[in-house]
Amino acid sequence: MRAAMQVLPGSKIREVANAGLGRSDVLAFWFGESDEVTPEPIRQAAADSLLRGETFYSHNLGLPELRQAIARYASGLHGEVAVDRVAVTSSGVTALMLAMQWLLSPGDELVAVVPVWPNLTAQPLILGAQVKRVALRPQAGAWRLDLDELLAAVTARTRVLLVNAPNNPTGWTLTAAEQAALLAHCRKTGTWIVADEVYERLYYGGSPGQAAPSFLDQAQFGDRLVVAQSFSKSFLMTGWRLGWLVLPDADSAAGAGGMDTMGKLLEFNSSCTPVFVQQGGLAALAMADDLVPRVAAHMRACRDRLLTGLEGLPGVTVARPPGGMYAFFRIEGQGDSLALAKRLVAENGLGLAPGAAFGDEGEGWLRWCFASRDPARLDAGLDRLRFALGL
Ligand SMILES: Cc1ncc(COP(=O)(O)O)c(C=O)c1O
Repeated sequence: MRAAMQVLPGSKIREVANAGLGRSDVLAFWFGESDEVTPEPIRQAAADSLLRGETFYSHNLGLPELRQAIARYASGLHGEVAVDRVAVTSSGVTALMLAMQWLLSPGDELVAVVPVWPNLTAQPLILGAQVKRVALRPQAGAWRLDLDELLAAVTARTRVLLVNAPNNPTGWTLTAAEQAALLAHCRKTGTWIVADEVYERLYYGGSPGQAAPSFLDQAQFGDRLVVAQSFSKSFLMTGWRLGWLVLPDADSAAGAGGMDTMGKLLEFNSSCTPVFVQQGGLAALAMADDLVPRVAAHMRACRDRLLTGLEGLPGVTVARPPGGMYAFFRIEGQGDSLALAKRLVAENGLGLAPGAAFGDEGEGWLRWCFASRDPARLDAGLDRLRFALGL
């Protein structure tokens, strides 16, 4: 085994979840997924595909009709995204790993905005890159970016700037002006931007389903920009493992030959995404205009319900997140988030993710996924938290 593997950190979210394994009395809010099953037409499309016998390898880059549908969907949100910029991947996390493999050599510097979902900072480490962390900072529970600090951290030595917005775990979301400033800066330093925008439709700054500001809205022809996307969150498809990448314009210097290389990388990773899963993705996109606003409206109601409860608890610091599916909060006097999360599971049957799972910057905080089919579950969780705090 490589030395880098020996020091690979495990997931502290899993560590807490494993502590509650086999207990049916735990109310689990630790993972980033809704407990609502994928809508029937999507499941039916996958079942039909299997029954038709679509059990073979497909093109490395995905079914042409799914790539077309994704390009149409992305273009509808962000202006023209050509189909030859789209690659289908077996999940959002695989999309991100492929992007890292496509861009990073051992020793390269990657600047990451943190706290962040730990997979994003583990991937570059696996590839031997150096991760430089730039921290968001909480102000009365709301996490803020110091744009100047981030711009100063990204230099000509920086190969990749990695930004996840809306952010897991804090809900922090970039503004269009910040995206434009980062793109302009990275044009000067020659830095690639890898944008993890998997929560873009779970954004509460407009009407339900309105997309969060995207780097795609601000990008110019030929920008060194890779966007990772997923069907998991806003289409209720976590278990399907389906996502996609948008690469730079194929006829620009940044994009030239890039999609061919991405096809090879896909070949050497998963070879392709299962056809029946891709058929599910096609069905999902066909119902996106109905489904996504419904999911986003429900998430917003869940967010408001949970946040109202948390805000009413003495000693709790929290702010209403502008995007994502998480409340990130801290409790006065509680510094060790892993110990606290384990205690909440063991003694109160409440399953939350420890903030330390997202880096040292998240220590002392807890993450609560509010994506709950039945919002009453959130009330029951709040009761358990109140009890745990002796309130
Ligand atoms: C920030 C972020 N990016 C990417 C993903 C990947 O999603 P998936 O691999 O399910 O498509 C997640 C999942 O939790 C996430 O939180």
